Formats: sequence, structure tokens, C-alpha cells
Amino acid sequence: MYICLCEPVTDRDIRTAVQSGCRSVREVAGRLGCCRDCGRCVRAAREVVEAARVEFNAIRVADDRAAQCAA
Ligand code: FES
Repeated sequence: MYICLCEPVTDRDIRTAVQSGCRSVREVAGRLGCCRDCGRCVRAAREVVEAARVEFNAIRVADDRAAQCAA
């Protein structure tokens, strides 16, 4: 789904940016170019960033636990 229409950016693009290290809308905007024109997408982009951060943190914790169990 498109989150930003001024600079065509999807929720998948934002999730990928978070997965590769972006931690805020500002960082995502810097990488993807979204959220810098009319600003209507900032709230939706923030929701995607926050959800992705929670998801990827949970995956990271699960991976760490699996690695500890395997050690
Ligand atoms: S919709 Fe994203 S800056 Fe306009």
C-alpha cells in the first residue's frame, strides 16, 4: 500500500528501510525521500515504522534466544 504519494513509497519500502537500520520517520525519509513534501503521510509512515520496529525487535530477540539455546 502506498504511504507517500508525493514520493511513491509503500509500507513495504518503509519496512525494508527499518529492517536495514532506519529507526525513525526522519531516517526513513532521509533514505527513501518520503514525508518531505506535503507531509500528509507522516502519521501513517510513523505507524509503519513503529510496527516494523516492534516486529523486527521481536524477531531479533527470538533469534538471540535460539542462538543461546543452541550454544
Ligand atoms: S504524501 Fe508524503 S509528502 Fe506528500
